[in-house]
Amino acid sequence: MTESATGHEAGSGYFSEENSAAVVIDRIAAATDPRLKQIMASAIQHLHAFVKDVEPTQEEWGKAIAFLTETGQICNEWRQEYILLSDILGVSMLVDAINNRKPSGATETTVLGPFHVADAPRYQHGANICLDGKGEPLLVQGRVTDTEGKPISGALLDVWQANDEGFYDVQQKGVQPEMNLRGIFETDADGRYWFRSVRPKFYPIPDDGPVGKLLRQMGRHPYRPAHIHFIVGAAGFEPITTHIFTPDCPYLHSDAVFGVKEDLLADFHGVDDADRAAELGFGNPYEAVTCDFVLVTPEQKLRG
Ligand code: BEZ
Ligand code: FE
Repeated sequence: MTESATGHEAGSGYFSEENSAAVVIDRIAAATDPRLKQIMASAIQHLHAFVKDVEPTQEEWGKAIAFLTETGQICNEWRQEYILLSDILGVSMLVDAINNRKPSGATETTVLGPFHVADAPRYQHGANICLDGKGEPLLVQGRVTDTEGKPISGALLDVWQANDEGFYDVQQKGVQPEMNLRGIFETDADGRYWFRSVRPKFYPIPDDGPVGKLLRQMGRHPYRPAHIHFIVGAAGFEPITTHIFTPDCPYLHSDAVFGVKEDLLADFHGVDDADRAAELGFGNPYEAVTCDFVLVTPEQKLRG
């Protein structure tokens, strides 16, 4: 018999409770991608430590597998239950933090979430992205600059938000107009942008699947505080994925996906200006929010 047929070559020690992780990690010695090998070794190490800590019964482990199965089965193009799972466990925000270490003054980032679409319509400044006519009118305006305060012209802002009833257009195909509350704007020579929308409201993340059930079992609610999503990018700068939040939302301190950062609470304020209100097609007074974005160059991004 060859060494390999007897299983006596290096890395084929028999499995025991004590050496479980080491035996499995030994078995990936021949992996050719060093990063994959590092990631899998760490995953195996932590997973075995977790199982040793929890000591699940066979029934509990079966439930864990069934949970993962259901999580996969409910997924489709617009229902990304694994993203939700990563989000509610704080993992999405941790990966975001590790990959977006920035000097102070740069706009902070937060979760992308599952409802971004790649091909939102391009609009001129001032366009109204609210196509269903529901909600409290809101003027959104601001500038995109570098860390020295210099305007960045030609920056693109990709914006999306839920409607007044707390749903994104892609969650209600055939109910909401397509591309409701989405749009892409380009900053002018002074780095400015402005558009019309509606005041965002808090809403629950999709909670009718296994992740929602898990949230309830953990004694947690599914709500996200009211926000507007932005991806802001410009040539020569690192793109950012972020939100602005209304500063008075009851869920700011218990966001289901841990996405809130103090710097992202935006300046929502009332404006009493009958002429401007008439230009905007809004009643007077109306609400506005000013949100400036500060981008960094790749060299300014902090490593490690
Ligand atoms: C969102 O803000 O669109 C979102 C983020 C994480 C999970 C679900 C929704
Ligand atoms: Fe959202």
